[in-house]
Amino acid sequence: MRLKRTHFIEEINSHLIGKEITVCGWILRRRDHGGVIFLDIRDRSGILQVVFEEGLDPKIHALADSLKIEYAVSIKGILRRRPPGMENPKISTGEVELVGKDLEIHNASQTPPFPMDEDLSEVSEALRLRYRYLEMRALGGQEAFIFRHRINQTIRDFLNSRGFIEVETPYLTKSTPEGARDYLVPCRLYPGKFYALPQSPQLFKQILMVAGFERYYQIVRCFRDEDLRADRQPEFTQLDMEMSFITEEDILGIVEDLLSHLFKETLGIELKTPFPRLTYEQALSLYGTDRPDLRFGMELKDVSDLGGDSQFQVFRSALEKGGIIKGLKAPAHFTRKELEELTQWAQNLGAKGLAWIKYQKDALTEEKWSSPIVKFFDRNILSRMEEHFELTEDKATLFFVADEPNITHRVLGELRLYLANKLSLIPKDAFKFVWIVDFPLFERDENENRLYSVHHPFTHPKVEDLELLDTDPLKVRSRAYDIVLNGVEVGGGSIRVHRRDLQEKIFHILGISKEEAEEKFGFLLQALDFGAPPHGGIAFGLDRLIMLMLGKKSIREVIAFPKTQRGQCLLTGAPSSVKIEQILELHLLPGWDK
Ligand code: AMO
Ligand code: AMP
Repeated sequence: MRLKRTHFIEEINSHLIGKEITVCGWILRRRDHGGVIFLDIRDRSGILQVVFEEGLDPKIHALADSLKIEYAVSIKGILRRRPPGMENPKISTGEVELVGKDLEIHNASQTPPFPMDEDLSEVSEALRLRYRYLEMRALGGQEAFIFRHRINQTIRDFLNSRGFIEVETPYLTKSTPEGARDYLVPCRLYPGKFYALPQSPQLFKQILMVAGFERYYQIVRCFRDEDLRADRQPEFTQLDMEMSFITEEDILGIVEDLLSHLFKETLGIELKTPFPRLTYEQALSLYGTDRPDLRFGMELKDVSDLGGDSQFQVFRSALEKGGIIKGLKAPAHFTRKELEELTQWAQNLGAKGLAWIKYQKDALTEEKWSSPIVKFFDRNILSRMEEHFELTEDKATLFFVADEPNITHRVLGELRLYLANKLSLIPKDAFKFVWIVDFPLFERDENENRLYSVHHPFTHPKVEDLELLDTDPLKVRSRAYDIVLNGVEVGGGSIRVHRRDLQEKIFHILGISKEEAEEKFGFLLQALDFGAPPHGGIAFGLDRLIMLMLGKKSIREVIAFPKTQRGQCLLTGAPSSVKIEQILELHLLPGWDK
């Protein structure tokens, strides 16, 4: 480097007028006026206009004339005020320009595959991911990552100040079950043996509590081989925390403090604490899901009694089979075609149908209630319906599903979201956190006819439900909590089992034999035997939290080098084939390694 940077562009302003300075960066734009070359040069911090005028050293002028977009350069010159009327209030250096005197070209650039100074949201994601470094270098392309950096710093500052200690745990380890498939790493030194990449540091953080750290955190990568979606990546980052000698209230309190601090520091937003809490049952009953979006209402209402009193056979027979009837109110009317499409959509989700009733308050020409099924409801039921759904608006449509609770909740929960989006009922800049508590400890897997943990097998049962473990395990509630933001599960945790006998009992209920428990989790059980303290914690999906804070649609937008929905890295081409020698060295073809 012949020309060394004297200033980052963000440091340049009218105070430096008349001074000789050197800036480094990339050419963003170029315009020519006769023999005068205008450039916008950009570094990480800003944009500066540079002018190479006629009458310059011909060698330097020729060099400047060879410049193209995205060349990497250093430019030395004298800063001057722009001529009147030529100022650009949009950039921080808009009052000044650099009169170029000397130039060093560090590297040429091919023409970028997309414009570097425009919004890239219309450019295909595949192209952007392949050239991720250019997308990041383009205007605004680093913002999400700089924000993410600030989030990490703010979290660390906060937790450090509250006595938490950051400890790193292994990536090459034994399976930690969190309900997904493991990524396995074959082991060269032990033929036929594998490390597993951690689905979370769950067992290590518990063992750190046995080790007496008391307050641990880690910003840590986790690996899960599962089907990918907009908010799921095969490797993602957790903010992982654990504390000893505490209860649920301590953890929920510290998390609320942390999130309030984070939103205040990075977005300038005041969150209202404490966050609302819903039991799992309440969440399902009111919103049809355990991750409700509380930015809008449209709660589900149970109308089983009204349906039961009606003459509508579909409703009556659903009730007779032990089902329920629930409905929700949308503040709008829909065309026949839309209603047919909605019915089809509900059926695709597993409903047998979708009943609807159109309501018009001050009906002059039309009926107040209209629907093919309204004939089955007498006046009395309709007026109870009016009360039940608080029909104060002029126009509304009630939708009903009659089925077993699971299907009814799932379909209406999805319908609620779908309609809220369609009718633009969701305020865009709102952040609504909610805790979901009192999850069941176990669920039944109908296909395999066995129980599995709703969270993970290390979750403590509610103390008042302990006796049910022997008699009715499906009724046992857990000391787990999830935290949901705008309908996305951003975190989850629990108070853990810290005694061997209870942990063994839970393994037993899960159908894990003594031998299997010993083989898989013997190290944990043994650690519990050495005075393990009561402890608990939580982990946040940091990518999801940042995605929501920035109003992005996918966590890929806040991960520097993410994988596609198909699990590929378009930049590096991973996953890729390997040489046969490597496969043999790892003993992956038994019998071939001699
Ligand atoms: P859990 O499995 O709920 O809990 O994970 C915690 C949070 O991590 C995020 N998350 C993901 N984010 C992106 N891509 C994924 N594939 C993905 N999977 C999960 C979610 C989720 O809420 N050890 C426990 C925590 C504890 O009990 O302390 C655990 O990992 O936002
Ligand atoms: P049918 O009597 O089957 O023609 O249904 C009359 C209306 O009720 C149609 O709009 C169906 O979509 C709807 N429907 C059918 N089954 C159900 C159900 N289980 N829950 C809610 N609506 C239903």
